[in-house]
Amino acid sequence: MVNSNRRRFLKRAGALVSAVPLACGARASRAAGANERIVVGVIGCGGRGTGLAKIFSQQPDAEVAYVCDPDQRRVERARQAASATHAVADMRRIFDDKSVDAVVIATCDHWHTPAALLAAQTGKHVYVGKALLAQCARGPAAGRGGL
Ligand SMILES: NC(=O)c1ccc[n+]([C@@H]2O[C@H](COP(=O)([O-])OP(=O)(O)OC[C@H]3O[C@@H](n4cnc5c(N)ncnc54)[C@H](O)[C@@H]3O)[C@@H](O)[C@H]2O)c1
Repeated sequence: MVNSNRRRFLKRAGALVSAVPLACGARASRAAGANERIVVGVIGCGGRGTGLAKIFSQQPDAEVAYVCDPDQRRVERARQAASATHAVADMRRIFDDKSVDAVVIATCDHWHTPAALLAAQTGKHVYVGKALLAQCARGPAAGRGGL
């Protein structure tokens, strides 16, 4: 059940990201209610994380509650770009918040596996780039962690 939900979320998140050009041209006319929105935390606020935070924040059925980066300048830039409520330096703040449905992991590569495993352990859906398995030895650990 959890796996199937995660798969459904990833399918949906992929569709959201690939639908961006469409969404920019024709925003949906109906904003989703607070209970229908996917609450997202974005971890890592370089170019990729900030770009994804902005994309998610533009979707009518998603809201970026957190952006996270130890770099104060980057996290503040991302907070503004995504109109996020919280800018934090420690990703555990996001994992501890039960209102967050999903996390986007856009840190440098070596943080992908630990961040994704920690997120999965707290029941979050995870969106992470293929660099998750850049270090092949981490593949089995990620699999055992339910990713
Ligand atoms: N740049 C792209 O177009 C692109 C496209 C696809 C995938 N990616 C992937 O996305 C990831 C990020 O790419 P980028 O270009 O933004 O890299 P980047 O190095 O510019 O940004 C990474 C950010 O992660 C932050 N970070 C590091 N450790 C962290 C931690 N423990 N918690 C929170 N934040 C942490 C860093 O401070 C930095 O701001 C990489 O894995 C990259 O392969 C990037």
